Amino acid sequence: MCGIVGYIGYREAWPIIIKGLHRLEYRGYDSAGVALMNGGLNIYKKAGKVSELEDFTQGVNLGGHMGMGHTRWATHGAPSDRNSHPHTSGDDNLAIIHNGIIENYSSLKETLISRGHTFKSDTDTEVLIHLIQDIQEQTSVDLREAVRIALNEVIGAYAIVIMSKDEPDQLIAARKGSPMVLGVGKNEYFVASDASPIIEYTKNVIYLNDNEIAYIKRDELLIKSIDNIVQTPYIQELELKLEMLEKGGYDHFMLKEIYEQPRSIKDCMRGRIYPSEGQVQLGGIKEYAEKLKNIDRIVIVACGTSWHAGLVAEYLIEECARIPVEVEYASEFRYRNPIISEKDIVIAISQSGETADTMAAIEIAKQKGATIFGVCNVVGASIPRASHAGVYTHAGPEIGVASTKAFTAQVTVLTLMAIYMAQQRGTITQSKLVHLLTELDNIPNLIEKCLLSNEHIQEIAEKFKDSRNFLFLGRGSGFPVALEGALKLKEISYIHAEGYPAAEMKHGPIALIDEEMPVVVIATQNSSYEKVISNIQEVKARKGIVIAIVTEGDTEVTQMADYTIEIPEADEMFLPLLATIPLQLLSYHIAVMRGCNVDQPRNLAKSVTVE
Ligand code: M6R
Repeated sequence: MCGIVGYIGYREAWPIIIKGLHRLEYRGYDSAGVALMNGGLNIYKKAGKVSELEDFTQGVNLGGHMGMGHTRWATHGAPSDRNSHPHTSGDDNLAIIHNGIIENYSSLKETLISRGHTFKSDTDTEVLIHLIQDIQEQTSVDLREAVRIALNEVIGAYAIVIMSKDEPDQLIAARKGSPMVLGVGKNEYFVASDASPIIEYTKNVIYLNDNEIAYIKRDELLIKSIDNIVQTPYIQELELKLEMLEKGGYDHFMLKEIYEQPRSIKDCMRGRIYPSEGQVQLGGIKEYAEKLKNIDRIVIVACGTSWHAGLVAEYLIEECARIPVEVEYASEFRYRNPIISEKDIVIAISQSGETADTMAAIEIAKQKGATIFGVCNVVGASIPRASHAGVYTHAGPEIGVASTKAFTAQVTVLTLMAIYMAQQRGTITQSKLVHLLTELDNIPNLIEKCLLSNEHIQEIAEKFKDSRNFLFLGRGSGFPVALEGALKLKEISYIHAEGYPAAEMKHGPIALIDEEMPVVVIATQNSSYEKVISNIQEVKARKGIVIAIVTEGDTEVTQMADYTIEIPEADEMFLPLLATIPLQLLSYHIAVMRGCNVDQPRNLAKSVTVE
């Protein structure tokens, strides 16, 4: 949830850390702080964004070749200067930055207070650094050993970096359940929550594993397990490119990412579809091809937008491969003793690959013997590593907190999976396969066409930017699209919005409809077209304002609706990929017109690594 970055080497540390914190700000922006080794262990921290920390440190001598920085998404303790990281030990000799939650912090804190420790913040993190100090005082072990002992005492998730006034040539980093990557340079090392702060300095990285501690000097790296066993690091080359992390002329990352979708979907399909042969090849799950022929059920676990992609998959897999699918919020699944067996395949969907609830759901499903397929965007993240098999979405880094291109890439991968399963099970004819794959291959071009409606959507946004509520309706796979449209609008514009199956409206939400209620309806020409028309009439009869997403050339809905946005005609299976685009643009423009921070909406963070 928080972002961490550290540097040790021959360069000036401050600029590397500050630039890194800006890149990591998508992970949290409640406060920012830096510890620098510069004639002592100096700490600068401030509530608010990284830019506020920069203002705060104007005129200060920020030299030094070793340091660490943190950008926070608050869990324990309100966003404030004193709760900002880095936190220090009681004697101010040690400093720590932390991403994650120390679950037993309360009992540890009580013990430490009884031993005379006093605390300056409300955070769980401060307890950990006091614990390390306490262990050193009680046992006279060195810092490395004290950190190791402390980590064996804490329960919870962490990625931490520690600096000591007495050891000005060493960073100590460790992880359990929160991501951490080490950048390997010549006489320098970097440490960060993801590779974005590292990319312009080195391509060589080591992904730290759970329960590993790295002792880092500028010319020496030692990795040990928390059981004190030396580990052999695996250095890999980053595929990330710097331009992927920049706005590239767009006003916001979200807009850039919306416009990237023709490319990201192409990347996602590359090497996986063979339209003329009617073939899908998914190397990541091919060793389970036989199992797929015989399974009775698939369970999908995910959160937020990824859960919406799961709902789309339910339609696709049941339709194509005739396998019953259940879609669960990972956060519910993990706490309700789910009925899962070795016969089941559990698909875990996650952009970040780090979502704590989805990780926990995977662990439970694994314990019960299920096979786990991961559908993730971030290569090498915890979820793909915890899965037995999987398919990456290859959408490239998504920086905007509101998910856009990651969603359509997830839907694309899940479409490929549905077709692949149908292929294995013989539930689809060869001619249908050729037809579907030929259409799928053309989807990036159709998305280009959807994007041409941008100005028209901007005009509609202008009319509704001051609305207080919105309703989104859809049927079939249009229902998850409605849910996703509502989520996008509420998370970036703070307008209350609900997504509903269109036919369910009459069972309650219809009471909300009056002449001020905009109702966005997915009303494309597919199997539920006539039914959706009836739902539109029900809205109009109550004076609601209808904004309809229609198929190009539509006349019937166009006559009834107040506003229409056209999308190109395509097979019904691909409706979610196309109908989502105008909803993303509508939310984007409304949020911009309301003066909201589109890329960093309040209270949110990109990867939710706490439960
Ligand atoms: O990284 P994940 O896909 O696991 O994240 C799941 C949700 O936290 C995420 O989709 C969230 O709902 C986004 N803010 C949606 O835009």
